[in-house]
Amino acid sequence: MKTWKPPSRISRGRSISSPEARHSAPGARLRFTVCLVIAGLSLCFWPAPGRAAEGVVSRERLLLDWGWKFHLGNEWGTGEDLAKAGSSVGPASRDFNDAVWRTVDLPHDWAIELPFDRNADTSHGFKPVGPGFATNSVGWYRRTFTLPQQDAGKRLWLEFDGAFRDSRVYVNGYFVGHHESGYSSFRYDITDVANCGGRNTVAARVDATQFEGWFYEGAGIYRHVWLTKTGRLAVAPEGLFVYSKFKSPVPAGPAEIRVETRLDNSLEALAECTVRCQVIDAAGKTVAEGNGSARLGAFSQRTVRQSIQLDSPALWSPDSPTLYKLLTAVESGGAVVDRVETEFGVRTVGFDAEKGFLLNGKPYVLKGTCNHQDHAGVGAALPDRLQYFRIARLKEMGDNAYRTSHNPPTPELLQACDRLGMLVMDENRLLGSDALNLDRLERLVRRDRNHPSVAVWSIANEEGEQTTPAGGRVAQTMQGLIHRLDPTRQVTMAANVGNTFAGLNRIIDVRGWNYHIGREMDNYHAAHPVQPNVGSEQASTVCTRGIYANDRQAGYVSAYDDNAPPWAHTTETWWKFFAARPWLSGGFAWTGFDYRGEPTPYGWPCINSHFGILDTCGFPKDNFYYYLAWWGNRPMAHLLPHWTWPGKEGQQIDVRCFSNCQEVELFLNGQSLGKQSMPENSHLAWKVNYAPGTLSVKGYNAGQVVAQDKVETTGPAAAIKLTPDRPAIKADGQDVSIITVAVTDDHGRVVPVAGNLAEFELSGLGRILGVGNGDPSCHEPDVFIGTPGARSVPLDSWRVKEVPDTKDRPEVAKEFSVRNWRRVDVRADFGPLTPGQCAVFRKQFTVQPSDLSATNILLSFGMIDDEGWVYVNGQFVGESHDYSSSPAFQVGKFLESGDNTIAVVVKNNEGEGGLNKGVALVIQEKPVLANWKRSVFNGLAQVIVQSAKQAGELKLTARAEGLAPATLTLPAEACAPPPAVP
Ligand code: GAL
Repeated sequence: MKTWKPPSRISRGRSISSPEARHSAPGARLRFTVCLVIAGLSLCFWPAPGRAAEGVVSRERLLLDWGWKFHLGNEWGTGEDLAKAGSSVGPASRDFNDAVWRTVDLPHDWAIELPFDRNADTSHGFKPVGPGFATNSVGWYRRTFTLPQQDAGKRLWLEFDGAFRDSRVYVNGYFVGHHESGYSSFRYDITDVANCGGRNTVAARVDATQFEGWFYEGAGIYRHVWLTKTGRLAVAPEGLFVYSKFKSPVPAGPAEIRVETRLDNSLEALAECTVRCQVIDAAGKTVAEGNGSARLGAFSQRTVRQSIQLDSPALWSPDSPTLYKLLTAVESGGAVVDRVETEFGVRTVGFDAEKGFLLNGKPYVLKGTCNHQDHAGVGAALPDRLQYFRIARLKEMGDNAYRTSHNPPTPELLQACDRLGMLVMDENRLLGSDALNLDRLERLVRRDRNHPSVAVWSIANEEGEQTTPAGGRVAQTMQGLIHRLDPTRQVTMAANVGNTFAGLNRIIDVRGWNYHIGREMDNYHAAHPVQPNVGSEQASTVCTRGIYANDRQAGYVSAYDDNAPPWAHTTETWWKFFAARPWLSGGFAWTGFDYRGEPTPYGWPCINSHFGILDTCGFPKDNFYYYLAWWGNRPMAHLLPHWTWPGKEGQQIDVRCFSNCQEVELFLNGQSLGKQSMPENSHLAWKVNYAPGTLSVKGYNAGQVVAQDKVETTGPAAAIKLTPDRPAIKADGQDVSIITVAVTDDHGRVVPVAGNLAEFELSGLGRILGVGNGDPSCHEPDVFIGTPGARSVPLDSWRVKEVPDTKDRPEVAKEFSVRNWRRVDVRADFGPLTPGQCAVFRKQFTVQPSDLSATNILLSFGMIDDEGWVYVNGQFVGESHDYSSSPAFQVGKFLESGDNTIAVVVKNNEGEGGLNKGVALVIQEKPVLANWKRSVFNGLAQVIVQSAKQAGELKLTARAEGLAPATLTLPAEACAPPPAVP
């Protein structure tokens, strides 16, 4: 492994007198005045509301997701220079050469790209990242962009929705911040160090060496990055809080909309301003308005509080997720200087000790699931559309609540919950009242408190300290902070103790229950009748989709609702118990979707959990239909298992039916096998002697058939079928199509035992993001990267000769004798030169004629320390003046077939110097595209395809040996792409 030249020894960086450095010098910033802010830097991102004054709005929010360079490896230390500002080293430096790095788009999770490794952490899904896997655990990201000159005078923020984890961010060689948590959002004010009117470089070092949880956590910048520009007088980040109040506990009549706007004046002058608010309904009509005003001293913040009456509001609920928009305009000096748009909903939430959870004042049973942020094919880096897909799938089974176990979610998840209608238990990662943990908690609450979906805050999960007096005091401080920031919601903690009223449970608003159902709960409630309760984590059956017998070797658990770990319960056990006790508020099943890690009850070869009601792709397991029966609101029936059991003719099969009908009748090949009454919150079972054909059920209410289901014996696998989740996607470079790959028989029926390996080819405008199949023991890759098409040819043995100066050296000629020149190994960590010494390094090498046809040939230097002038065959190719920049030069046009010479004139200013850390010729051919493939598991697999930014068609073809192939043509429809950093 390389070690990096210690910055303290040579912390020289760029001269502060460079035009860019002068431009962003701190003094320059302070010279901007109110006049500049209102003078002409404008970009409106929504149309001016009617009454707002004519003026200038500087706010822009630009996505910074596309076109990052990525390198996995820890060759450069942290990049920080603790001695001098702006002189970060290695990839953190402004001019570092990242030409040979891979290009990636965010969100990006590099852990998903790594192969499974039996020696890696079980609970993290056997991915070789984290403790013990140093070389896979640090990644560098770099992105270069230009900022227009007009941005000078604006406030510029670099915002990360989340990076796993321990990230250090640099802008133009300046360190701008360190953020440890892999789950909370963070932002940096980069106004001072940005180069307006020129090139800017953002570098982020992300270090996933440590875990934060005990489940798959991913690695990298796995959420969005944004560049936000505002004026110097603007709404502060997360500075808007809107909530509603009603006079009566059950909302009726007008709502009082309370708006708190925190203004930030970073001008060196006093600012007088007016805050105008408009409430816009779903039809786009202004339905309420209000004004407020404030005087802000130079460099100060102030909160403007307003109360606006909204007559006859449409209330938000999961069944009717009506949203309003709050448009906030900040006016100063006769101009609009900022505008902010906030989506919100009008509703009340609360927990009652007897009635349970109350939504809009009425009891509302939480029918929820806990979920990690993890999906097949993409790991933790979920595209926004996938959040909507997952929430919609959960809603399909009657789920109305989602616990973001065990960490702050990505903001787009909450947006999906607001819009689709899903209540959220928004969870903090770690218990702690130290400054760092309170800061994380505050970020979470400020960021998420406008979301109508968020119904309750959870401060932690199953902490060892939950019953100690200290744990109680820590929780009280955290709860107090939340109450100060949000007067509208209560606080819980997911506690895994039974009838224990100690520590945390003594002080928490709402007692959370992880497992422990039974007498302990009843006794606790009897002893503490004024404390509300919620089932923060319940169930959980372990089961594998489409499998009907436990198989330890294969790592599969039967999909009958029969198996649960010792601390947990089957689906039917927990729900029967909770459904009978309204005071429990309902609860959250562990888990909605399977996730990587925590394989239970078996370890390797399992790499993901079996807890999901849906598998990692979102394909339902049979338990999905239990919930649909008792959480849904339509008559239904679902029969299990499948009916393709060759070789089992005449043997007894355990047949079950989930249904909410009053009676259910079972038929085998048209013959009734009897009618049974359906017990509430339960299921029916039969033993049936297997005969191929059709097994079917009819569900009756009041003697009428209201639901049916059937399973049929299928023929052998004959064809592939591709079905997208929607008929078209948006051509915005972000949208995805979630495509089901099914192996069918020649009647088009999914073969429930098929395991064919399918290969995929995508043509048109888009790309495959990932593949999956929900098999908890499958070790096939989710992602195929292809070969980047670059080969590196090391150029190791060189000759060196000291020279008096660097000017017009004859030694750089194509032909020059190196007799008596010293041999030198340029792979060393430090060069051979002493301070002030100059030298010429020469190397002769051979180029094959075939190499000359490569797309690019780069001459890449580990380090030219400190300055260097590079010649190939006597011709000048470039120079370097930053020892830490690992320069690379395009040399294709200077090379010849056969013998070639490189000469580098080096001047060492301080410390040791010369050519070191290796030299290589990087030959870049056309990249070889990945060959995507995946086996179907019990008949199904999934391909996630992402659009490009151009409209057109995407064509996905799937082939498998012996099966008829399928081609899916998917339109990608023109749409305005999100505003993005070019
Ligand atoms: C719970 C824990 C979850 C998960 C689950 C597995 O105790 O809160 O994170 O580990 O057990 O059953």
